[in-house]
Amino acid sequence: MARTAARSTARITASVYTSHVPAIGAAIDLGKTAEPYWQPLFRGYEFSRQWLREHRPDVILLVYNDHANAFSLDLIPTFAIGTAAGYAIADEGWGPRPVPAVAGHPELAAHIAQSVIQDDFDLTIVNKLDVDHGLTVPLSLMCGQPAAWPCPVIPFAVNVVQYPVPSGRRCYQLGRAIRRAVERYDEPLRVQIWGTGGMSHQLQGPRAGLINRAFDNAFLDQLVADPAALAAKPHIEYVREAGSEGIELVMWLIARGAMADADGGAPPRVLHRFYHVPASNTAVGHLILEDA
Ligand code: DHB
Ligand code: FE
Repeated sequence: MARTAARSTARITASVYTSHVPAIGAAIDLGKTAEPYWQPLFRGYEFSRQWLREHRPDVILLVYNDHANAFSLDLIPTFAIGTAAGYAIADEGWGPRPVPAVAGHPELAAHIAQSVIQDDFDLTIVNKLDVDHGLTVPLSLMCGQPAAWPCPVIPFAVNVVQYPVPSGRRCYQLGRAIRRAVERYDEPLRVQIWGTGGMSHQLQGPRAGLINRAFDNAFLDQLVADPAALAAKPHIEYVREAGSEGIELVMWLIARGAMADADGGAPPRVLHRFYHVPASNTAVGHLILEDA
């Protein structure tokens, strides 16, 4: 059958990468995006919002980390997939953000869980989950302030808060397993995968405020050009170079592993790349990669 024939299965169309700083959400919610501090940051996402409007997916698989809001120290899943029909916005201490609730996609999520677990990755199944800034700030950056989010979202939570955290290598391999799962789903859905968190930042201790532009830009270069090599970077190097919260960057390797070239296909096209310092205590990085 010709490759141009209509597909009958789902596919990954693009991956999006972005930091998730909570102050960005507050700036949007409080109408401060045009202020001199914030304007250069939001300008870096103008292309992205237009692109998303023109390339609206059917589902977003959003890889993020919870910040002890849904999961406490009582229970710490390394990888957790949301299989619910919908998700409430978490109250992180000052009330839930005034953003739409998140609609889920239980059928695709359950299929991914089945496929990825049978592919030897242990996922925790989450049927009730309040989503925090790790998930809502990327949505706000990419969508602005809509009355409803543009499509259903499957939350995919990764523990990067309490040690031990998963390795970059495992995250990359997990992304490859997610791609295989999506491609086995019998409905022609266009699925985007988003990797969020990072870039360099440290929120506590003597090194609080750490930013490492050289590390961040080298990470972006290598994420595009040689993600398999980047996946070999040990977690301690993220901590040393990008700060204690810079370890959030391993989540980007899940999204990158779901692109075609990780499965022997053609490399993705870089549609957009942006880097800005600072937003609150954090370096902000952003990429959009589209599969051929
Ligand atoms: C900040 C960054 C984060 O990733 C986070 O989860 C909380 C706060 C910050 O820069 O303020
Ligand atoms: Fe964070």
